[in-house]
Amino acid sequence: MKTLATGLGLGFLISAALLGAVHAQNDTAPMSGSTANGGRMPMSPAPTSGATSLQLAHSPKGSIKDPYIGDKKAIAEGQMLFSGAGCPGCHGGGGGGGICPPLIDGVWIYGGDPDTLFRLIALGSVDLQKEGYSRMAIENVVAPMPSFGSIIPEPKDILKIIAWIKSHYDANGKPLEGNQ
Ligand code: HEC
Repeated sequence: MKTLATGLGLGFLISAALLGAVHAQNDTAPMSGSTANGGRMPMSPAPTSGATSLQLAHSPKGSIKDPYIGDKKAIAEGQMLFSGAGCPGCHGGGGGGGICPPLIDGVWIYGGDPDTLFRLIALGSVDLQKEGYSRMAIENVVAPMPSFGSIIPEPKDILKIIAWIKSHYDANGKPLEGNQ
C-alpha cells in the first residue's frame, strides 16, 4: 500500500511538472512562433537614411523611378516580399486576382507606371485619391486598397514588388501570354 501511495504521489508530481512545462511553452509560443508575415521573407526595417516609403509617396509626381525593372534577382525578392506582405490574400499568389483585381491583366485602375503603382501601394487607394488620382478603369472589384507604406517602410522593397508585377509584361507593357 505504502509503495502504491508513493508511486501515485510521484506520478502526480511528474504530471504536474509536465503540465507546467507545456503551459510555459504555450506562454512563450506567440512571441517566437507567430510573425506578422507568417515567417516568410522579413520586411526590411525603415531606412535609417533616405526617405521612408510614406515620405517618398508624397514626393513630386513622376519622380519615383524603379531601378529593379528587369533585374532577375530583385524580381525574385519582389515575389517573396509580395507573399510576405500579405498581398496574395486579396490579389492571388500569382497576382492573377482573387477577391481583388488582378495585377497582371494589363488593366490599370490609376495607371501602370511604377511611379503611380508605388504611390498606390504605399498610400492605399483612399489617400491616393486625396492626392488627385482618380479611377480610370474598372476591374472586377471596386473596393479600397489598403495602405502598405508603414508595413513596408523601405522603398526598395516596394520597388522590388513592382518589378515582380512588371515582370508579367513585355517591354511594351503588354501582358505576357497566358496572363489574361
Ligand atoms: C485587403 C485587400 C488588399 C490587399 C491585402 C492588397 N490589395 Fe492591392 N488592391 C486592392 C483593391 C481593392 C484594389 C483596387 C483599388 C481601387 O479600385 O481603387 C487594389 C489595387 C492594387 C493595384 C492596382 C491594380 C490595377 O489593376 O490597377 C496594385 C498594383 C496592388 N493593388 C498591389 C498590391 C500589393 C503589392 C499588395 C501587398 C503589398 C496589395 N496590393 C495588397 C486590395 C488589396
